[in-house]
Amino acid sequence: MNNTSVRVRRATQLDSNDILTWRNDDTTRKMSRNTGIILKKDHDNWLTAALTNTDKVLLIAEDNQGKIGFLRFDSTDKGSRAEVSINLNPNRRDQKLSKTFLRQAKRFLPRGVNDLLACIKVENEVSNHIFSSSNYELKHSKDGYNYYILKIRK
Ligand SMILES: CC(C)(COP(=O)(O)OP(=O)(O)OC[C@H]1O[C@@H](n2cnc3c(N)ncnc32)[C@H](O)[C@@H]1OP(=O)(O)O)[C@@H](O)C(=O)NCCC(=O)NCCS
Repeated sequence: MNNTSVRVRRATQLDSNDILTWRNDDTTRKMSRNTGIILKKDHDNWLTAALTNTDKVLLIAEDNQGKIGFLRFDSTDKGSRAEVSINLNPNRRDQKLSKTFLRQAKRFLPRGVNDLLACIKVENEVSNHIFSSSNYELKHSKDGYNYYILKIRK
């Protein structure tokens, strides 16, 4: 698989329907904190606010076959940490594209972020594999979640 053609850019309102469709995918819902269906009205409100929220970075990866998926960084701890969430287009899963996306997304991180946090359901085998094989360190497990940290800077 040649992943060199993967391009990462900031999400816009034009990605809204895709982000919502992928978010309401059954597997994605099962692996999310909130497992309910997200209504379009709620999604639209959330996305409009998120796109102008400087504590969030919303990214889309694509290649010559189209959109690969969505990735979000949410700043916490006064900007020193960002939580990462990744959700691929269901049609583009099982092609080993997420590690490339995770790697390329780092260049969009705001200054001041020292580490990345990923909270992954213990049952989410593929995602646990992806983060642990992308140098994220498993720090602890609690209430069905594994907490991974990747140090960006000291
Ligand atoms: C998790 C997700 C991003 C992975 O995407 P992907 O890149 O298409 O994953 P792939 O199926 O191609 O597998 C990637 C790697 O995981 C491995 N893998 C796949 N299924 C696995 C399993 N059940 N157990 C362990 N490893 C597994 C693959 O062998 C591959 O390993 P390698 O790259 O080291 O060779 C994608 O499935 C997704 O969007 N899921 C829904 C949302 C989600 O769970 N997000 C994570 C929480 S933030």
